[in-house]
Amino acid sequence: MLPNFSLVDFLYLCGKITKKPMDTIQIKDKTFAISIPESAILKQVQRVANAIEHDYAGQNPLFLVVLNGAFVFAADLIRAVRLPSEVTFVKLSSYEGMSSTGVIKSMIGLNTDLTGRPVIIVEDIIDSGQTMVHLLDEIAAQNPASVAVCTLLVKPDNLKVKLDVKYCCMEIPNDFIVGYGLDYDGYGRNLRDIYTVVE
Ligand code: IMP
Ligand code: MG
Repeated sequence: MLPNFSLVDFLYLCGKITKKPMDTIQIKDKTFAISIPESAILKQVQRVANAIEHDYAGQNPLFLVVLNGAFVFAADLIRAVRLPSEVTFVKLSSYEGMSSTGVIKSMIGLNTDLTGRPVIIVEDIIDSGQTMVHLLDEIAAQNPASVAVCTLLVKPDNLKVKLDVKYCCMEIPNDFIVGYGLDYDGYGRNLRDIYTVVE
């Protein structure tokens, strides 16, 4: 093999792996570079799980996972919380609203009664925060005992609304990211690390 030519380079050139050397990847027209390695993500997920375990001791929390983006985060989080708990999933269907906020997303697919339950919303990322505000309204209308927001990521510089985010693994700058459940045009959800767009 050539000098400075690693096994990773070799496997990449053979088409055996999709990860390029230098920890960058190509998804469609964009190049992404690793910004948060899996080990750092999992450390923060464990920290948040410990906090939930402490705060909900003696309760039976219901994790309400927002699909699709939060499925990887939720899988790690709920297994790290050593309490009796339940999990349910919702999707957000977008429709064009006539309000100034533009696209409004409505919750669909809920098949669990929230009445009197301590609900923990599990979301991948809070960007402008508009999705979460709308979701909180819809959940509050179902009379849960309590509602807390738990998100993997927040982009604080882009928040347009006031939100009480009780549990947040990491705050990130305003750049577009993929991996660990988050996608670019449907791709990238399976990446173990989080990548930021570079070009
Ligand atoms: P918000 O209503 O502006 O807070 O939008 C949040 C939603 O936008 C998330 O649930 C994601 O689906 C999507 N989103 C925001 N930022 C990113 C990103 O950097 N990568 C992938 N999806 C994102
Ligand atoms: Mg989402």
